Amino acid sequence: MSRSKRKWEHIQHALDEKEAEQKGLDQVRFLPNSLPNMSYGNISLTVQLHHLSLSSPVMINAMTGGSPETKQVNQKLAVIAREKKLAMAVGSQMAALRDPAQADSYQIVRRENPDGLVFANLGAEATSDEAVRAVEMIAADGLQIHLNVVQELLMPEGNRDFSDCLFRIERIAEELARYRPDVLLIVKEVGFGMSRRSIRQLADAGVKIIDLGGAGGTNFARIENQRREKPLAMFESWGTSTLESLLEAAASGVGQVSFIASGGIRHGLDIAKALSLGASAVGMAGFFLRLVHELPMERCLEEVDHLHHQLRVAMTALGAAQPRDLQRAALTFSPEVAEWARQRGIVLSRYTLRDEDHHTL
Ligand SMILES: Cc1cc2nc3c(=O)[nH]c(=O)nc-3n(C[C@H](O)[C@H](O)[C@H](O)COP(=O)(O)O)c2cc1C
Repeated sequence: MSRSKRKWEHIQHALDEKEAEQKGLDQVRFLPNSLPNMSYGNISLTVQLHHLSLSSPVMINAMTGGSPETKQVNQKLAVIAREKKLAMAVGSQMAALRDPAQADSYQIVRRENPDGLVFANLGAEATSDEAVRAVEMIAADGLQIHLNVVQELLMPEGNRDFSDCLFRIERIAEELARYRPDVLLIVKEVGFGMSRRSIRQLADAGVKIIDLGGAGGTNFARIENQRREKPLAMFESWGTSTLESLLEAAASGVGQVSFIASGGIRHGLDIAKALSLGASAVGMAGFFLRLVHELPMERCLEEVDHLHHQLRVAMTALGAAQPRDLQRAALTFSPEVAEWARQRGIVLSRYTLRDEDHHTL
């Protein structure tokens, strides 16, 4: 099957997915704050991702490109990114590295949004030379390298050899640090989450930004199963959730690494929770795919305003004037997550009793 046909099938199956079915971030709750001592109007949503300043913590995560149909999707996503000042990643550019005629379906993103933050995307099979070419193709501010082992294994035509992924990521990190230090390297999962072991390995390889890509949203095991003659249904609940991945990230003890939370982020309260659990930003893919599929541009832009409003409501209710203030809000967890954390040796009192040290947030 051609790469461009596969990309289109992924979009169709992702649209068929119901909105996040797993409980996800519903399994963590904020303690209320009856005296927030601040005003809704004073909130700043600006966050820092390494050397890049983002005017919103929300980014449009990697999805597509590689065919005329996907070019249209990228064009709409890029207009949203431009109008609402959101960082945006394109989908894997391997299609265009193999067939330069497809490059335009990614370059449209930079044309629509010449001054915005745009991230390139490739899989961990990429060489450092391909990584630089992907960045240059769209004059990217950052490069995402995606890890999707289970998706590849379930994809009939997928990769079966993962021997040198970490080595190649290390080479890419070195190459960018040497020749393009302005380009941010992000390593991301695509919805299976990450354990602290993988996080530490990536940090040791020189990766400074990790997108945890947890389970609970778009489910690539299920999507690939729909494309298989003989589905491997037992892998559809593979992985660690976005919430669990955030707990793993905090327990990893890696300094100098910033985390992006993604996978099943549905609304502003999910965003507030992810930021409170230590994420510097959040990635949303399925949410934006549904927007551009279902709504005219004007309504898409209203929905992004609404998403930011939900986040501001949560921040005001908690007395958080800036996203990082959310990390002082106390959280409690469902018994299921508490048991999972116990098994993983994660002490939750660092979240549940956070407010003990502060008279005000
Ligand atoms: C149609 C579609 C295509 C995707 N293609 C890519 C890709 O090429 N590269 C990548 O890193 N992630 C890709 N993703 C994964 C997303 O970036 C994201 O990690 C995943 O969908 C989980 O987030 P969500 O629950 O908000 O959708 C794709 C997602 C969708 C829905």
